[in-house]
Amino acid sequence: MNSKKSSTTDALKWTGTQLQVLDQRVLPEEIRYDNYHDAQGVTEAITSMRVRGAPAIGIAAAYGVVLSVMVHYSENNPNWQQQVKEDIKQLSDSRPTAVNLFWALETMQKTLDAEKGNPIAILETLARKIHSDDIAANHKMGELGAQLLTEAKGVMTHCNAGALATGGYGTALGVIRSAYQQGLRKIYAGETRPWLQGARLTVWELAQEGIASTLIADSAAAWLMKSGAIDWIIVGADRIAANGDVANKIGTYSLSVLAKQHGVKVMVVAPTSTIDWAMTHGEQIEIEQRQAKELLNECYLNDDSLVDAWNPVFDVTPAHLISAIITERGVVLNPAEQNGVRCLQ
Ligand code: MRU
Repeated sequence: MNSKKSSTTDALKWTGTQLQVLDQRVLPEEIRYDNYHDAQGVTEAITSMRVRGAPAIGIAAAYGVVLSVMVHYSENNPNWQQQVKEDIKQLSDSRPTAVNLFWALETMQKTLDAEKGNPIAILETLARKIHSDDIAANHKMGELGAQLLTEAKGVMTHCNAGALATGGYGTALGVIRSAYQQGLRKIYAGETRPWLQGARLTVWELAQEGIASTLIADSAAAWLMKSGAIDWIIVGADRIAANGDVANKIGTYSLSVLAKQHGVKVMVVAPTSTIDWAMTHGEQIEIEQRQAKELLNECYLNDDSLVDAWNPVFDVTPAHLISAIITERGVVLNPAEQNGVRCLQ
């Protein structure tokens, strides 16, 4: 790795009048921001995965609500609140698994219902706060998670839980960044089929900062663990149930089962906005199914094709396979033995 740069690329930029979204579908070949002026556009940006990653989806949705109020609010429009509500409903239908989306939208709606002043200013301040709180939480989690890695020879991450998936710094990649500062050098990333968040985003994001990493095919993970090169799998989360079960990118469950077999530990890093207190266990979490065309070769995309695809994009790892859950409020070791994550409530 020759070029050393210190800055991370922002997934989202708020200008005060529009939301600029980095199109993660075209990375790493192209760095392109699209501009959004309304909630419909932001909904499409989330559904199409221009922006992805649980915290980033929540932050984008919060700015989407601000744009909605900017479009509809006027003293001459008695229906503006109803119109904003409809936009919030549309935003909430964009993706089902990441709870940060619903958390951010509820937070925005509650403030909208309670406040009496200028709704644009109030909601813009709140969306900016959701964004900056997320970055602060990531730095805190980075510090807490890295404390468990002082002896680690190597780590592996899955999907992209970095700056691109959050307000900045990242969850799992935040911990890896902090551990890198302490001397961790062996960082493996799984490709993360079918969307290749690992191969296209994670290794690119790290390289932007001059951090070297090693990409592996997803199917090489068991053999990597068998080699003894890694002590930890470090991942983010889309939703954590109260008992500590974790929904995350498809493949996290298989990695956790493999980790158990090989004496490798599993660390989940997520802000408390990713905990869904209403879910007592992971089986209640809705798993997003995406279109077959994301998996299938084009020759199978016709009506009389005999080949279909099953494309769940998340899975649930039971708490008993997880060694540590890191949040900005603290660390839960062996959540299955601690009544899940309830001590953080
Ligand atoms: O489908 P994606 O790319 O939105 O899935 C992202 C993940 O599964 C991440 O691991 C999770 O959202 C945590 S991001 C900090």
